[in-house]
Amino acid sequence: MFDTLTKAPGDKILALMGEYAADSRTDKIDLGVGVYKDEQGITPIMTSVKKAEQRIFAAAKTKTYLGIAGNKGYGAAVLDLALGDSVDRSRVRVAQAPGGTGSLWVLMQLIHRAKPGATVWVSDPTWPNHNPIAENSGLQVKTYPYFDAETRGVKFEQMLATLDGLGKDDVVLLHGCCHNPTGANLSDAQWDQVAASLARTGALPFIDLAYLGFGDGLLEDAYGTRKVVSSVPEALVAFSGSKNFQLYRERVGAAILIAKNAAQADVAQSQLLNIIRGAYSQPPDHGAEIIRVILEDPELRAEWETELNAMRARMIGLRQKLSDAIRQRSNSKDFDFIAAHRGMFSLLGLPNSVVEHLKATNGVYMIGDSRINVAGIPEERVGDLADALLAAIK
Ligand SMILES: Cc1ncc(COP(=O)(O)O)c(C=O)c1O
Repeated sequence: MFDTLTKAPGDKILALMGEYAADSRTDKIDLGVGVYKDEQGITPIMTSVKKAEQRIFAAAKTKTYLGIAGNKGYGAAVLDLALGDSVDRSRVRVAQAPGGTGSLWVLMQLIHRAKPGATVWVSDPTWPNHNPIAENSGLQVKTYPYFDAETRGVKFEQMLATLDGLGKDDVVLLHGCCHNPTGANLSDAQWDQVAASLARTGALPFIDLAYLGFGDGLLEDAYGTRKVVSSVPEALVAFSGSKNFQLYRERVGAAILIAKNAAQADVAQSQLLNIIRGAYSQPPDHGAEIIRVILEDPELRAEWETELNAMRARMIGLRQKLSDAIRQRSNSKDFDFIAAHRGMFSLLGLPNSVVEHLKATNGVYMIGDSRINVAGIPEERVGDLADALLAAIK
């Protein structure tokens, strides 16, 4: 059987992690892998998560199945967190899914059932996993203009012009906040325009909400999602709890659908549950139960928000420090965009030759497209990093 197979391409980020681990330089800097890191360079378990786990272990009596949609309390809590009261819940359905990726996957499958071969429009560039998830679900992928390599902001007019030309058979995948890989995000006013465009054209918005709370705040980061879902009859949202609860390996996410009315929501949900049943039957519970416990308990929730706020403040602080250090050394505003970007990433807009040079000469590791993870910047090395960047682009 297997002699018919040829080797699949390896994952570039995992390969880079391997290269970094094998690099014996003690002053190397890892800006590659997309996980949050603290001052010590580790990806810690949040204290609120630890406390929730202790409660869960103390109270647990059974490991019996929970059902295809997973943990119901979790689903309701995530809807509150992501959507608030932006849309009438009678039109909303949710199914817990394995991570943001699993949520994207089951929702892409749902799109395929509703409209086989529909076109999913993704930002140029986008998270590299969007394309295979859509294509493996039998959907077409096309791109809309997004990142402006000159300003390192969003090419908003071109983006909107493309969206304005779409129709009912199109799906528009939007990063709800903290765009990966660019770090360039829409303003609230631009979200308003995107929402109005989607309402006009009838294209289906599909929001990937993987970094809620990592940009400007939980409410601020939910603005775009809430604006869009409150403006259109139908929408999809893929939520991830991997980053904001630091639960990466627990694989916790949620597939959310908003339909025209309750009856259509029930039909769409029945298809979604049918997809899940035929794929992995039911989602894993542990991460979802942690999130449920935290969000339902006012004290734990406050503690989690404090921890999340501190992580976000650290990333914003590192952004400011790096752009200040570059400005001081070069007297140029060319890297000010790092401070203006939000989320864990910034796309520096450097050619691959410069990325390779930084790795070889300075032991500075970033993704080949020049995406850096700002949480990976060691605070005491900001000056070294600024020097290395400026020397490399000379
Ligand atoms: C844009 C985006 N969407 C979705 C995900 C999915 O994350 P997970 O499946 O780990 O929850 C990620 C993770 O890196 C991401 O960056």
